[in-house]
Amino acid sequence: GVDLRERETKGRGEDPYRVLYEVNAFARDYYTRQLWDDAAGESVRRYLEERGIARAVAERFGLGYAPAEWNALREAAAAHKIGDALLLDVGLLKESDRGRDPYDRFRDRLIFPIEDASGRVVAFGGRVIGAAEEGTPKYLNSPETVIYHKGSVLYGLSWAKIALRREGAALLVEGYMDLVSLVASGIENVVATLGTAMTAEQARLVARYCRRMYILYDSDQAGRRATFRAADLLLAEGVHPEVASLPAGDDPDSLVRREGPDAVRRYIKDAIDVLDSKLHELAKRGLLDSTAAKWDALKDRLLPTIRATKDLALRDIYVRRLEERVGVGRQAIENDLTRMGPLPPPTPAALRRPRERPIVLPELGPERRLILLLIKSRDFIERTAEQLGADELGNPVLREIFAALVAHPELRAPPESMSPEGVHRWGELMDDPEILADEERILQDSIKKIKVRRLDEQMADLEKSLANAAEEEQSGLVRSMQELVRQRRELDEDHWVPTARKHTHVSQPVTQR
Ligand code: UTP
Ligand code: MN
Repeated sequence: GVDLRERETKGRGEDPYRVLYEVNAFARDYYTRQLWDDAAGESVRRYLEERGIARAVAERFGLGYAPAEWNALREAAAAHKIGDALLLDVGLLKESDRGRDPYDRFRDRLIFPIEDASGRVVAFGGRVIGAAEEGTPKYLNSPETVIYHKGSVLYGLSWAKIALRREGAALLVEGYMDLVSLVASGIENVVATLGTAMTAEQARLVARYCRRMYILYDSDQAGRRATFRAADLLLAEGVHPEVASLPAGDDPDSLVRREGPDAVRRYIKDAIDVLDSKLHELAKRGLLDSTAAKWDALKDRLLPTIRATKDLALRDIYVRRLEERVGVGRQAIENDLTRMGPLPPPTPAALRRPRERPIVLPELGPERRLILLLIKSRDFIERTAEQLGADELGNPVLREIFAALVAHPELRAPPESMSPEGVHRWGELMDDPEILADEERILQDSIKKIKVRRLDEQMADLEKSLANAAEEEQSGLVRSMQELVRQRRELDEDHWVPTARKHTHVSQPVTQR
C-alpha cells in the first residue's frame, strides 16, 4: 500500500525557478484543502464519487477544488507572503483589463495539478463541476510559463514511471479523467497528452521508460489523424506504436467504468501495429484498389511512416509488409526513401526556452486582442488584411501568426514553418477562453490603436533623425513627417495633440506589447 514515487536527484543544481515550483506547491495544497476540508467542496466531493473516483485516488493525483470566488487563492497566498507577481508568473492569476487587480484564473473548478517527469507541479488543469455551460470551456489549463511548456510535459508520467518500466509499455490517452479512471481501476501505466497533439519532445520522454505504446485516442476522424501523427513521432524515437480501437463513442474513462479493467486489457491485447492499422484503413476506404490510389497512398501515407522509423529491424519488417500488401518491390521502396533523405531533426528543446528570467509578460495590448479575435473568428481575417499589413505589428511573434492566418485563413494548426515561439503562442491563444463580446468594435478599435502606435513610433524616430540630419536631408525628412502627421490625423482627429504629446511617446519604452 505504499505509494512509491521515483524522484530524480542526480545532477540538479540550484534551480532559478525554485520559487515558482514552491508557489505551485502552495496552490496545490490550498486547492486540496478546499476540496476535503471546506463545506464548499461538498458538491465536488459528490461529483468525484459519481465519477467513481475514490478519495485515495483523488489524493494520489492531488486533486483539489478552486472556490467560486475571484480572489480566494490570491488572498490565501497573500496571507503567506506570496504576492501577485509570482502568482501571475505561474499563471494562477489573470491580469485584468483596464488596470484593475488581477484575479484567480481557476474558479469553481475541479483542479488537476500537472507535474513534470520529476514530480514538480508545473501547471494546473481545471474542470467545470458537472456539465459545462454554453460558452464556458469544460477544461481550463494554465498558460505556458517559464516552467510550463505544454509540449514537453506528459500528464501522469511522474506517477506512472515505475509501471511503464515494469510493463515495458505505456497507454496513451487524451484526457485527465481517462488517466485517473484507468489508474483507479488498477491500470497504472498510463500517460496523457491532454487533448493536444503529441510532440517530438513527449515522444522522447516516453522512450526513456519503455519501447511500446498503445494509443487509445478517440476513434473518430480527428482521433485517427492524431493517432497517426503521434505514431510517426514515436517511431522516430524508437518506440513501437500500436493502435487500440475502442468502441465508437467511448473514451477509456467511459469504457473502464462500464466494463471494467479487463475489458480495457482485451482491447489492448487486440491492438494492432500502426502500419497495419493504416493499411487496414486504406483498404477499407478502397485506397489500395487502383494503381493510382496505391501510388498516392504509398507516397502520402505509407512511406513517410517508414521514413520516420528509426529502428532498423522494425523498418525492415515494415518494408516487407508493404511489399506484401501494396505489391511494390523493396528496391523501389528503398530508392524512394533514399531520395526523400533522412527525416529533418526535430527542433532542439533549447530553442523553446528563450526566456532568461521568470517573468510572464502579460499581453493585453491591441495586437494580442486582434490576433486572439482573428484566431477565433476567422471571418474577420480578410477584412483585417485589407486594412492592416503584417509589418504594422510590432510584436514579431504575433506578426508571424497574423501573416500565417492571412495566407491561410482556415489553418487549424500552426504551419510547419512557424517558429517555436509562434507555435507556443498559437496554442496559448487557441486555449484562451476569453470571450470577446462586440467583436466588430474590438476589431476596429484594435486596428486603429495598432496604427496609431506605429505612426507615433515612426514620428518619434523621424524626429530623432531630423535632429541629427545633415542640411540637405532635412527637407525630405520634413516631408515624410508631414505625411505621417496627415495619416495620424486622418486616423483620429480627437486624439491628435501636437508636439508636446509626441515627446511622451519618445520616452515611452516600446516593450510589453
Ligand atoms: P474531452 O472533451 O474528450 O473530455 O477532452 P474528457 O477528457 O472526456 O473529459 P470528461 O470525461 O468529460 O471529464 C479531452 C481532453 O482535452 C482537453 C482536456 O485535457 C481533456 O481531458 N480539453 C478538453 C481542454 O483542454 N479544454 C476543453 O475545453 C476540453
Ligand atoms: Mn471523458
